[in-house]
Amino acid sequence: MQNTDKSNKASPLSVAIIMDGNGRWATRRGLPRTEGHLAGAEAVETVIRTAKDEGVRYLTLFAFSTENWKRPREEVDAIMELVYRYLKAKALPMIEKDPELGIMFPGDKSPLPQRLRELCLYTERLSRGRQSIVSIALNYGGRADIVNAANSAIGKGELPLNEEIISRHLYTSYMPDPDLVIRTGGEHRISNFLLWQSAYSEYIILDTLWPDISSGHLRECISEYNTRVRRFGGLKS
Ligand code: IPE
Ligand code: IPE
Ligand code: MG
Repeated sequence: MQNTDKSNKASPLSVAIIMDGNGRWATRRGLPRTEGHLAGAEAVETVIRTAKDEGVRYLTLFAFSTENWKRPREEVDAIMELVYRYLKAKALPMIEKDPELGIMFPGDKSPLPQRLRELCLYTERLSRGRQSIVSIALNYGGRADIVNAANSAIGKGELPLNEEIISRHLYTSYMPDPDLVIRTGGEHRISNFLLWQSAYSEYIILDTLWPDISSGHLRECISEYNTRVRRFGGLKS
């Protein structure tokens, strides 16, 4: 879905975040990297609440990329376990309590551990029709998203392909493209996140490591977003 509201004077409708820097946060404290992921999971709840308070209706969080499987087995297992426990203990109760809030999981769920996959599917079913959506990108890759969308459209005979058809088959077809993409941890790169969807997103890089993110950081990003002039290739009116 394309966000057709071209005004940037209100809160961005759709915000996506590359939650980077967990490992460095832990290493700087002499802790194992997995402790950084644990601290990172705790930061997620604050950001979800703040985004909702600020009027962000679609929040997308990059939790695990298609390339993150290259990490040591113990780290991957620890992340999968942590995501499962976080969903069960925090995220599910959050959407059970708040009927406006839903959670979706863009990405290929098939290689995820079975109980995590089932919990994701259950959560998505519960989230149907909710007005405010948090998307947790799990085993997500922007290139895989586009290839998958193309294959899915071709499988349905929707040829010739065009931009509207591809958008409709992406993992994120239920949400508008991000107005703002924030990356924590200071790296100036996209790391295969929302490649198609972020064509005209505003970017903000924060040096802050993800576990140190606060409500204030998110609010500052939204203020900064409001100073940006978006032209979408045209001229400022
Ligand atoms: C982001 O933090 C979380 C995941 C990619 C799962 P990192 O684990 O990449 O942390 P750094 O970049 O090594 O500090
Ligand atoms: C991007 O961070 C992926 C997530 C935050 C889930 P990475 O740490 O994997 O990115 P690179 O390897 O530094 O580009
Ligand atoms: Mg990283």
